Amino acid sequence: MNSVDQLVTDAADRFARAGIVSALADAELLVGFVTGWTRGEVSAKAFMGAELDDAVVDRLATLVARRESREPLQHITGQAPFRYLVLNVGPGVLVPRPETELVAEWAIDALRQVPNPSPIAVDLGTGTGALALALATEVPYSRVFAVERFEPALEWARKNIESLGDGRVTLVAGDAESALSELDGTVDVVVTNPPYIPDAERPQDPEVLGFDPETALFGGDDGLRDIRSFVGAAARLLRSGGVLVLEHGDGQGEAVRAIALEHGFRSPVTHLDLLQRERALTATL
Ligand SMILES: C[S@@+](CC[C@H](N)C(=O)[O-])C[C@H]1O[C@@H](n2cnc3c(N)ncnc32)[C@H](O)[C@@H]1O
Repeated sequence: MNSVDQLVTDAADRFARAGIVSALADAELLVGFVTGWTRGEVSAKAFMGAELDDAVVDRLATLVARRESREPLQHITGQAPFRYLVLNVGPGVLVPRPETELVAEWAIDALRQVPNPSPIAVDLGTGTGALALALATEVPYSRVFAVERFEPALEWARKNIESLGDGRVTLVAGDAESALSELDGTVDVVVTNPPYIPDAERPQDPEVLGFDPETALFGGDDGLRDIRSFVGAAARLLRSGGVLVLEHGDGQGEAVRAIALEHGFRSPVTHLDLLQRERALTATL
């Protein structure tokens, strides 16, 4: 049976039975991936009774089986949408999350408010380069530096920055704690999404536990180890009046505001995401 409608329905049923919450969306996106259609076009083709060639159906079957085994959709397609970008992703790097798009927005807002024709931003722990590239493309007159410590993630950052960075993002291999000391006291905005899950809290989703690197997820006994070190780095890098935008986990707001105050930041504010969970800190040096 090669009808688009039936293929989508069968894949969505298998995904739902495997515990995938976004079963229908993932089924439509995989059909879109093998055909080159948008998700809307897949729905339209299904409605119109379109059929796929045998070779396409065979390819789809392989990908559906991979997704059913809880491999992340983004690893199967090799792509993750992030704001206006489509990033390359795969083993060794964190798949950028939709909630981090909001964190990017708060950093972009802060960068746009800098009264300087060529403001400087730094992304600590860049992973795919998602935050750095969002800033560089949405504030095109800015200069952006992206720091990453772990080689597998660096490879993905290099690839994305080369293809999407328009020559305006500088990738730096190194530890956030000490990297870019030549910029100390000059940076306008630091954005960061550090590892912040407490070591003992194992994520439930097989896509996270089995595929996201532990070095991107876990932040020590209390989840705050890297937040402390990244806030310290931001205090070193930022100029007076510069802004820190830092993603953190739900329930960490109070502790993160205290860490910011200890490092000399003023007016720390905790921001909620669309599900009303504590999601990020903004603070001014
Ligand atoms: C939660 S991930 C965020 C990745 C990306 N910024 C995003 O939002 O999708 C944290 C990233 O920080 C990197 N990282 C962890 N410790 C680091 C350190 N001390 N210095 C630099 N990067 C670090 C990890 O390798 C990982 O890529």
